[in-house]
Amino acid sequence: MTSLPEQSERDRWRRLVEQVEDARLRYYQRDAPTIGDDEYDAMYRELVNLEQQFPQLITADSPTQTVGGARDQMFEPVEHLVRMLSLDNAFGDEELAVWAARLEKDLGSLPALLCELKVDGLAVDIVYERGELRTLATRGDGRVGEDVTANVRHIPAIPRTLTASPDGPPVPDLVEVRGEVYFPVAKFLEINDQMLALGLSPFANPRNAAAGRLRQRVDKRERELADVTAALGRVPLGNEKALARAQTRVDRVGADLERATNALGALQLVVHGIGARDGFEPSTQSQAYAALASWGLPVSARMRVLPELAKVLEFVAYYGQNRHEVSHEIDGVVVKVDDFAIQGRLGSTSRAPKWAIAYKYPPEVVRTRLLDIQVNVGRTGRVTPFAVMEPVLVSGTTVSMATLHNAHEVVRKGVLIGDMVFLRKAGEIIPEVLGPVVEDRDGTEVAFVMPTLCPQCRTELRPEKETDADIRCPNTRSCPAQLRERIYHVGSRGALDIEGLGWKAASALLDDGLVQDEGDLFALTAADLRASQFFTRHDDDELVLNELARKLLHQIELAKSKDLWRVLVSLSIRHVGPNAAQALAANFASIPLIAAASAQELAEVEGVGSIIAQAVVEWFDIGWHSEVVRKWADAGVRMTEERSVSGPGALTGMTVVITGTLDEMSRDEAKAALIEQGAKVTGSVSKKTTFVVVGDSPGSKADKAEQLGVPMLDTSNLRALLERGPEELEF
Ligand code: IVH
Repeated sequence: MTSLPEQSERDRWRRLVEQVEDARLRYYQRDAPTIGDDEYDAMYRELVNLEQQFPQLITADSPTQTVGGARDQMFEPVEHLVRMLSLDNAFGDEELAVWAARLEKDLGSLPALLCELKVDGLAVDIVYERGELRTLATRGDGRVGEDVTANVRHIPAIPRTLTASPDGPPVPDLVEVRGEVYFPVAKFLEINDQMLALGLSPFANPRNAAAGRLRQRVDKRERELADVTAALGRVPLGNEKALARAQTRVDRVGADLERATNALGALQLVVHGIGARDGFEPSTQSQAYAALASWGLPVSARMRVLPELAKVLEFVAYYGQNRHEVSHEIDGVVVKVDDFAIQGRLGSTSRAPKWAIAYKYPPEVVRTRLLDIQVNVGRTGRVTPFAVMEPVLVSGTTVSMATLHNAHEVVRKGVLIGDMVFLRKAGEIIPEVLGPVVEDRDGTEVAFVMPTLCPQCRTELRPEKETDADIRCPNTRSCPAQLRERIYHVGSRGALDIEGLGWKAASALLDDGLVQDEGDLFALTAADLRASQFFTRHDDDELVLNELARKLLHQIELAKSKDLWRVLVSLSIRHVGPNAAQALAANFASIPLIAAASAQELAEVEGVGSIIAQAVVEWFDIGWHSEVVRKWADAGVRMTEERSVSGPGALTGMTVVITGTLDEMSRDEAKAALIEQGAKVTGSVSKKTTFVVVGDSPGSKADKAEQLGVPMLDTSNLRALLERGPEELEF
C-alpha cells in the first residue's frame, strides 16, 4: 500500500520540478547550462523516485512525463494579419448539394465555384513585404501561429523573394499568402522508414510528417553541432574514452541535423489563398492565383473554376477515383466561391467561411488492433508471417489480414502482438501495416517469435542461403501446405487454367489420398474421384460423380494439350512465371530439351537471365521433379511444341511494350504472337524499346514513348507487323 505524501514531500516535489525545468530551459533554450550533467541526473533521479513512492504527485506536465527536448521545439508566436480559418466539411455528394443549395438560395443563383485539391499537409502563412519574405508561420490557433521563418532557407520550394513577370501585375507592398506545405508521397514513405529505424512511431499521415519536420529548430541543432564539435576539439590527447564519447555526440547531432535539413529540402508548397494585402486588389480567387503564380509562387495546375454543381461533382468523383495520380496525398476537394465580393457577402462563422467547403474522401490510413501474427507456408516453402487484425474499413474494403513478408520486416516495423497499428492500402490494393502506435501501449503487448518448425509438417525451418531474409520449409516434396499450393497453382489462370481445380478441390484431392503429389494429377480417373465425398453425390441411392468432378475430369483432359509454356509454369519452378516460360518455350519448344540445357544456354534466352536459368537447372536436378515430368508425359501432357522453331523469327532482336486495352485480341494473345516471332515483350519503355503498342486508355507508358521518340503502333499496325513483318509498317 502506498501512503499519502506529507506536505514536506509535496514541497520537495515542487522544488525539484522547478529545478529540473530551470535546468532544461537553460540547457535547451538558452544554450547556457548552469549545472553539470551529473547534478541534473541526480536531481531528475530523485524526482523519479519521489513520484514512484507517491504516484499521486505525478502530473501530466511533470518533467518526468515530458520529453527532455520539448522546449527545444518552442517557437516565437506570430500574430497573423488576417485570421486563418478552417473549413467545414461535406461527407458525400448530398452534403455538398445542401451547401450549394444554400448558396443558391442566399444569392439567387449559384456563383462560379473554384475547385482544388485538399492537400494533406500543413497550413502556413507567409508574409511578403515589398516582395521579400518577412515571416513563415504555422496556422496555430488561427490567430497566432508559430514563427518558423528560420527554417525557410532550407525549403527551396518557398520563394524568399517575389518578382514581377514582364506582362503580369507588379509585386505589392504587402501580401499575406496562405498555402499548404506537404511531402510528396515517396518522401513521406522514406521519412516513415527513418522513424521506424529509430524505434519511433511512423507518422500516420503526411500532414503529421510535414508538421513534425517543419516544426524543428534547425538553427538550434546547428548551434548544438558547433558546440559538440568544439567540445570534441577540446578533448585532451590520449583520453580515448572521452574522445569516443565526444565523437559519438558529434555523429549523432550531425545525423539528426542532416535528417532535419534533408526533410525540409523535400517540403513542397501549394498556395490556396491570400490574407492581408496592400497594393493588390484581385476581384476573384482565381485572379489572385494567377497573380501569385506570376510572382513565382507555386499554384496548383489542377485547380478549375466550374459553372455548375454537376461539374463540381464530376471533379470530386474524378479525384476520388484517381487520388493516386497526384504526387502528394489528398484527403478531399475544396470548393470555394471564386468571386471575392460574393465571398465577402457570405461571410464566415468564427471557425470557417461560409463561401468554402471541404469535400472529404474516406481516409486511407486507419488504426486497428493487431490481434496476432501467424505464419503461412507458400508454394515454394517460403514461410511468411502475416498480421491478423481486428477487421477495419480502409479505402472501401474491410481488411483483417496483411502480409509482413518475413521476420526481419516484423522487427523493422517494430510491431508487437496486441499493438494498435496504422494500416493503409498501399496503392489502394494491398493492405500494409505501417507500424505501431507506440503511445497506445499498456505493457501487455508481446513480441512475435518466428517458429523454428514448419507449422504444417514440423520440419525444421531454415534459410536457403545464410544471407537470405526468408526462411523456408525444406520438405518441398511432402509438406502438405506446399503440396496444396502447388496443386492449386497447376489449375490457376496463369498456369494450365483448369476450371474446377480450386483451393477446395486441391485440398480434397490430397486429404482423401487421391493424389500423392502433382505427378498424379493427370492420371486421375472417374473411379479415383468416386472414392471422395467431395466429388460425389447420391442419385437414387446410387453414388455418382457430381458436376464439379465431371468438370474437373473434362478440364484436366483439355489441359493436356494446352501451350507448352503453361505446362512449364505449372511445374512450380522458382522464378518461372508466364514471361520466362514463354521465352523458354519459344526457344526450346520442348521440356526434355530445356531439362538437358546448361545454365549458360538457358541464360542466353532473351527474357531468362542467369537467376532463372540457375533455378531451372537446379529444379531438373532433383529426382522427384523428373518423376513428376515423366508421369505427366505418360498421362499425355504436352511436352513439345508442335510448331517448328527452325530459325529466328521475323521480329528477333526487337523489344516491344504493350499499353492500354487492345481491340480484336487480348494483351496475352498479342504478347504470345510477338514472342512467337522472336520479339521480347517487356513492361517498361526505354530508349532500347523498338515499338510501343498503344491500345485504348493507355497508361503513362505512351507518354514515355512520346518523350523518348519510340514509334507507337495501334492495333492495325500491330496486325501488319505480325503478318507482314517490320519492313511493311506504315505509320
Ligand atoms: S482553404 C478559409 N484550400 O485544410 C479557407 N485549405 O480542413 C481555409 N487545406 O486549414 C483553407 N488544402 O490546412 C484550403 N486547397 C486548399 C486546402 C486547404 C488543404 C487544409 C488547410 C486548412 C484545412 C481545413
